[in-house]
Amino acid sequence: MKKIKDNYAILDKDFYYIVEDILENENFQKLKEIKHHGITRYNHLLRVAYHTYKISKKLDLKFVEATRGALLHDFFFYETEDDSAYNALKNHSFYALENARKYFELTELEKDIIKTHMFPVTQIRPHYKESYIVDIIDDISSCYERIYCFRKYLLNTFLFILTFFSIKFR
Ligand SMILES: [Fe+2]
Ligand SMILES: [Fe+2]
Repeated sequence: MKKIKDNYAILDKDFYYIVEDILENENFQKLKEIKHHGITRYNHLLRVAYHTYKISKKLDLKFVEATRGALLHDFFFYETEDDSAYNALKNHSFYALENARKYFELTELEKDIIKTHMFPVTQIRPHYKESYIVDIIDDISSCYERIYCFRKYLLNTFLFILTFFSIKFR
C-alpha cells in the first residue's frame, strides 16, 4: 500500500489546515493503536477524509465540513473484533458521534455524516450530498483495505511455503 500515514497531511497543506486540530488531538492520536480493516483506524480515517476532501471540493460542495465529518466518522476506541460483527456494524456510528461531540464542536452536516455513514446498514438515511459521498468513499476504502490485507496475507503464506520447501529439499 502506498504510504498513507501522515503523508496526505504533509503533502497537502490545504487539507492539513482543515484537519490539523483533529489530527493533533491526543484522543484522536490513540486511533493509531487500533486495528481497523487490517490497518490502523487512524490511517483508514485519513484515507476517507482525504478522498472526501478532493471529491467534495471538485463538486463545489461544503468540503471543509465534509472533510472534518469524514475524519471523525469512525472515531471510537474499541476493536470491532471485541463486539459481534453485526453489533459493531450497527452501533459504531453512534459511539463515533458521541466521542466526536465530546472533543470537537460539530455542525449539523458533520453530525449527519458520522451518524449516517453506515447507511443502509443502520437505515438512517443521509440528509446531505456530502454524507452520501462519505458513505460511498468509506465503502470503497474499506474494500480496498481489506483486499490489500488479504493479498498481503496470501503473499506471506506463499513465501512461507516456498521457504519451507526450499529448506526441506535443499
Ligand atoms: Fe464506520
Ligand atoms: Fe469507516
